[in-house]
Amino acid sequence: MIAVLVEGFGGPERLVLGRAPEPGAGPGEVVIRIAATAVNRADLLQREGRYPPPAGASDILGLEAAGIVETVGQGTRRLAVGDRVFALLSGGGYAERVTVPEAHCMRIPPGMSFVEAAALAEAFLTAWQSLTRLAAPAAGDAVLIHAGASGVGTAALQIARELGLRPFATCSSSKTDACLALGAERAIDYRAGSFADVVLEATGGRGASCVLDPVGAPYLADDLRCLAMDGTIVLLATMGGARVDGFDLRAMMRKRATLRASTLRSRDAGYKSSLVTGFEDFAMPRLSDGRLRPVIHAVFPWSRAADAHRLLESGATVGKIVLVVDAGLAQAPVPA
Ligand SMILES: NC(=O)c1ccc[n+]([C@@H]2O[C@H](COP(=O)([O-])OP(=O)(O)OC[C@H]3O[C@@H](n4cnc5c(N)ncnc54)[C@H](OP(=O)(O)O)[C@@H]3O)[C@@H](O)[C@H]2O)c1
Repeated sequence: MIAVLVEGFGGPERLVLGRAPEPGAGPGEVVIRIAATAVNRADLLQREGRYPPPAGASDILGLEAAGIVETVGQGTRRLAVGDRVFALLSGGGYAERVTVPEAHCMRIPPGMSFVEAAALAEAFLTAWQSLTRLAAPAAGDAVLIHAGASGVGTAALQIARELGLRPFATCSSSKTDACLALGAERAIDYRAGSFADVVLEATGGRGASCVLDPVGAPYLADDLRCLAMDGTIVLLATMGGARVDGFDLRAMMRKRATLRASTLRSRDAGYKSSLVTGFEDFAMPRLSDGRLRPVIHAVFPWSRAADAHRLLESGATVGKIVLVVDAGLAQAPVPA
């Protein structure tokens, strides 16, 4: 089959179309013929050689995909050949076909295109996991979502709103309207002032019971400053830096704070299956009627994967970038 390969680690120019072995479906697995996949920050790091795939995962980039089931392995129960699905992958999305456990696939809601569905799995499952498993904010609680206009952020804002939380976002000034439209109570331009002050002022000093943080070191002290008592900081990445000098642990003691660090990709198959099941129950009705929707900044043919990486790296995006793998399939009429 054809896949986007990384020809020696480095910049976006290292991405080239080439040949890769045909995948097969083992017990409990399906092979998906991919219509579209989407780009994640993790892909940029993997391309640079800074984020190796976990043991047993495909070394082809791509953590999510949408398409049709082409082959089913022994013991599969829910899916049949021809079903329209989107899936959470541990790799392999930048390819014509991918093998995935049946339990990591979700049916595409009626009326939703492959391009839209391709943008769902990684961002929405990360956000869902963060707000329901890694932290447990109660309805009415304030939650602070850093990088609110990112792929994960745009999903987290919508999920938080649907959970009855009070979402606060940080983002660049050009992205505040997008965050407000997705349900943010306040969209805070973090370059213009202190996000902690805004959260504390808006919550009458109580603070946010949960902070979703992909920025890391430069935010930790202020995350704690605006964290509610017994609150949880979910560390998703260290885009802004990984080392914190001079951090005073008593700030955590004062808040009885929890710091949870998480990487979804390396979770075992059983954990991902149960995450998918819980997410489906919550999200499918909402994806069907539009209360939840993927936010897509741009769509590229996969032959322009390098341009898609450059765009994501630029930091100018709101939501996801989708790569169309099979234009014929992606443009097929969408079942109502
Ligand atoms: N741990 C996990 O399981 C997991 C899963 C998925 C994603 N993630 C992580 O979550 C983060 C968001 O992922 P994504 O794919 O949704 O990202 P994305 O769409 O590429 O968005 C990233 C945005 O973060 C903002 N940002 C804030 N501080 C930044 C900094 N220091 N450097 C670069 N960008 C900064 C920028 O928006 P502004 O212009 O608004 O600042 C940028 O556009 C990434 O770090 C990703 O690796 C983690």
